[in-house]
Amino acid sequence: MRSTAILDINIHTIVLCLLVIESIHCARVDVEDDGPGVLDIPVTFRATLSGDIGLESQFVYVFDDMGVSPRHRQEIISGRDANYTITYNSKDTSADKYNMRVEVYVYIWGLRGWLIAEDNHQFVLQNTLPGSINISQSGVSEKALTDGIVATNRTVQMMAQMSDASHFLKNSSVCNYTWVLDGRTFDTSLSPILTHNFTSNHTYDVQVIIFCNITHLKTNISKLGHFQRSLTAKNEIKEMNVTGNTWLVDGALLQLQVTCKGGDQPFWYCYEYSEKQRVNYTCSKELFHTNDCYFPIVHYFPKNGTYYIDIAIYNDVNVFNKTIKVNVYEIIRQTQLSFVIIPIVSSILAIIIVVVGIAYHLQQRAHENMTLEVADFDFQHNDDLMEKTFFERLRSTIATAMRETFFYPFNPCTRAQSYDEPFDDTIANDSAINTNTLSYGIVK
Ligand SMILES: *[C@@H]1O[C@H](CO)[C@@H](O)[C@H](O)[C@H]1NC(C)=O
Ligand SMILES: *[C@@H]1O[C@H](CO)[C@@H](O)[C@H](O)[C@H]1NC(C)=O
Ligand SMILES: *[C@@H]1O[C@H](CO)[C@@H](O)[C@H](O)[C@H]1NC(C)=O
Ligand SMILES: *[C@@H]1O[C@H](CO)[C@@H](O)[C@H](O)[C@H]1NC(C)=O
Ligand SMILES: *[C@@H]1O[C@H](CO)[C@@H](O)[C@H](O)[C@H]1NC(C)=O
Ligand SMILES: *[C@@H]1O[C@H](CO)[C@@H](O)[C@H](O)[C@H]1NC(C)=O
Ligand SMILES: *[C@@H]1O[C@H](CO)[C@@H](O)[C@H](O)[C@H]1NC(C)=O
Ligand SMILES: *[C@@H]1O[C@H](CO)[C@@H](O)[C@H](O)[C@H]1NC(C)=O
Ligand SMILES: *[C@@H]1O[C@H](CO)[C@@H](O)[C@H](O)[C@H]1NC(C)=O
Ligand SMILES: *[C@@H]1O[C@H](CO)[C@@H](O)[C@H](O)[C@H]1NC(C)=O
Ligand SMILES: *[C@@H]1O[C@H](CO)[C@@H](O)[C@H](O)[C@H]1NC(C)=O
Ligand SMILES: *[C@@H]1O[C@H](CO)[C@@H](O)[C@H](O)[C@H]1NC(C)=O
Repeated sequence: MRSTAILDINIHTIVLCLLVIESIHCARVDVEDDGPGVLDIPVTFRATLSGDIGLESQFVYVFDDMGVSPRHRQEIISGRDANYTITYNSKDTSADKYNMRVEVYVYIWGLRGWLIAEDNHQFVLQNTLPGSINISQSGVSEKALTDGIVATNRTVQMMAQMSDASHFLKNSSVCNYTWVLDGRTFDTSLSPILTHNFTSNHTYDVQVIIFCNITHLKTNISKLGHFQRSLTAKNEIKEMNVTGNTWLVDGALLQLQVTCKGGDQPFWYCYEYSEKQRVNYTCSKELFHTNDCYFPIVHYFPKNGTYYIDIAIYNDVNVFNKTIKVNVYEIIRQTQLSFVIIPIVSSILAIIIVVVGIAYHLQQRAHENMTLEVADFDFQHNDDLMEKTFFERLRSTIATAMRETFFYPFNPCTRAQSYDEPFDDTIANDSAINTNTLSYGIVK
């Protein structure tokens, strides 16, 4: 009888166990706390189970702060997660680093089954309130603020921010705040916020000391907080100048110099060319770095027209942008005219000279033949041949000259030359005659 009953229970257990095993694979528990924990103030640990576990399953969570004196051990029956809140008393426990061990067991028939997951979680207990100094300033990027960089002579808001662990303090405490900036102590106030202007571009030491009266479980406790960080105040860019000729003869090179004044290094800049005016230009391209705010812009515009150059300069605390208008225009080339006229005139003159010369030569020869008795047939023949080739060459030369003059009045070579060598000094100098140096100074 007894043996069958035991067998019965065993069979039941095995079936159930198999069912539970079936539904649990690779279970894993992760423990976190809302700390750093403060003595006398509750700290909450949260254990979260993950893996392929049954939706309806219940588990036994065992929280064990081994090493803490006195040691606490707590069993909690819960689903996929469990919270354990405990207050460590400053009378019994000292501020230190400790371990919270969490074991998770299956929960069967109101009993603790077998272990499916465990985790060791390190946590901190301290005497003072945890937190940090949060700064904000309009116009300065979140990244710069996170790095502790602010702009000089502009209002900075500094806030003593207690960490999440102390969220319950909000309703149960009264605190006063004392700020110390570079050794200078400000009046204690009940507001966690201090607004201030940093007037010099150097690194400041910022501290805040907090006193809180906390009412917890009908007891009054007093807690101190002390946050510290360093802030670097940087001057803003105040002015941007762009100098150089913006009226360009087609073929000339745009050469601008961009400088800025007032800002602290490092600087980053970018610029872009466009044919339409853009509003609110932001750098979409790669930014270039410079430590002294100077950079040149050199560009060759192959076509005449109106162009825009959008320039933006950044430092850690502000940005300056400016759009420059560039006009590229074409002029009628004096040189081209002479290239056309001089060959025509020269050709005509050459033709006249040659024709006159030949006429004179023929006349002279006829005269000589009459007077001289020497009849050198060979010479005569040779002369005839020479005269023939000479006339043929002359005719083809004239024909070529006429063709070039009539069909290509603008010698294409002259144009091609100026494009082949866009950086020719003489062309650049040509435009210098037209120099109309502009200066775009913006004063904020
Ligand atoms: C544990 O605390 C978290 C956050 O406060 C909450 O979302 C969750 O429901 C709590 N879990 C249990 C089992 O109480
Ligand atoms: C300061 O606090 C605000 C809101 O409380 C938050 O959005 C911001 O990220 C915090 N800034 C820094 C630098 O921690
Ligand atoms: C804090 O106190 C206010 C009233 O003073 C109350 O409305 C609010 O619910 C409390 N908040 C918490 C988290 O207890
Ligand atoms: C805390 O309470 C003490 C007296 O109990 C008082 O002197 C002090 O001003 C209080 N501090 C704050 C921040 O309210
Ligand atoms: C900081 O300087 C600005 C401009 O000079 C001024 O408007 C602002 O009131 C100042 N803020 C503080 C807190 O002194
Ligand atoms: C900031 O203000 C201080 C005092 O008014 C002045 O001496 C300093 O030159 C200012 N700095 C800048 C960058 O404007
Ligand atoms: C600030 O609080 C502390 C402790 O609670 C107290 O001793 C001090 O007098 C308070 N200071 C002011 C200005 O209220
Ligand atoms: C602070 O500003 C001055 C002039 O405004 C400049 O000469 C100096 O280099 C700046 N210092 C830093 C650390 O940027
Ligand atoms: C340009 O940007 C500023 C803010 O950065 C905004 O107030 C303004 O409306 C924008 N202008 C246009 C034309 O988009
Ligand atoms: C460009 O500068 C103008 C004023 O010069 C400013 O209103 C605008 O917000 C700036 N745009 C950007 C993207 O910084
Ligand atoms: C550019 O030059 C051509 C002649 O080559 C002229 O027809 C055109 O109007 C010019 N455009 C501008 C914007 O000056
Ligand atoms: C910018 O130009 C203005 C006027 O042309 C001049 O007074 C100023 O000194 C220049 N600034 C820089 C940084 O070159």
